[in-house]
Amino acid sequence: MFHKRSYGVVVAGILFVLILMFIMFGSRLFTDIEEMNQVEKDNRIVVGVSQLGSESGFRTANTESVQNAFTKENGYFLIYNNARQRQENQLKALRSFISQRVDYIIFSPVVETGWETVLREAKEAEIPVILMDRNVDVEDESLYVTCVGSNFEEEGEKAGRWLERELQKRNRDQESVNIVVLAGTEGSSSQIGRTVGFDAVAGKHENWNILEQKCAEFTSTKGKEVMRGFLRKYRDIDVVVSQNDDMTFGAIEAIRESGRTVGVDGDIMIISFDAVESALEMVAEGTINVDIECNPNQGEYLLRVIDMLETGEQVEKQYYVEEDVFTMENVTEEILEERSY
Ligand code: AHR
Repeated sequence: MFHKRSYGVVVAGILFVLILMFIMFGSRLFTDIEEMNQVEKDNRIVVGVSQLGSESGFRTANTESVQNAFTKENGYFLIYNNARQRQENQLKALRSFISQRVDYIIFSPVVETGWETVLREAKEAEIPVILMDRNVDVEDESLYVTCVGSNFEEEGEKAGRWLERELQKRNRDQESVNIVVLAGTEGSSSQIGRTVGFDAVAGKHENWNILEQKCAEFTSTKGKEVMRGFLRKYRDIDVVVSQNDDMTFGAIEAIRESGRTVGVDGDIMIISFDAVESALEMVAEGTINVDIECNPNQGEYLLRVIDMLETGEQVEKQYYVEEDVFTMENVTEEILEERSY
């Protein structure tokens, strides 16, 4: 049996918890509702962006580019979600955008396969889907409107063609050349494209031996771990093809710890991808031989695509961003100063 006084204490306790919950969640809810009302009043375009993760310098820059593009000042309301490298998180984010009835969905697919069902759901809800950075492998291409990203196959070919020229310059084009490859996320467009592109060039040279290609997930820690394994397994490695700068940083640490040297005057040539600022500095000092640019500044391109869709203009199925190839010869002070990532 409750005593009258302890009954009062319980009621006061419950009231206190309710007030606390209201302060914590209720006010947030009202702010959200108010904000959405304002978004509607301002006639802003609501964009749901599902970013695949934050594994690399490229990715951080890519996220910033999108966040700087879809601002209130530009007439947008951005709902952003980071999927932390998990496809199931991306699927959840996409479904939540559909249920919130956003105007556009933008997403960078972590891998190419497994998107049909959710893309069909978006299409049924009449929400245009724009792919960013990476692509999807779907039979029905009408499931997405367009893709803004890199030509990964061409990037891989650029790497191969650079190696061809470099070996010729060194009069080593007839000698046997041992290559190891640090690959990005298995099944991602960047991993697939760069592999296909590089292999196409490698296939023309009988003296190029790709000893092994192994996934290091586009991260520095994994790059170091996988490179250590390569160094233990293979005595003579001439070239490392590392499918992004983050893995390259880890690989260089592992090579140096093994007592070997890298770069222009070193034992092992380094071919990297992305060309983030710290990697370009290493290109300038001769630590990385060549860096194939992967341009993360896609926000402006995406803005243009949505503008076109809003005005009923026909958009193309694929837009490639501009990208360069950097060696010691063309990394200038100006380029380094301008690079913001
Ligand atoms: O899809 C682009 C790749 O993804 C970048 O090269 C890499 O750094 C990133 O994680």
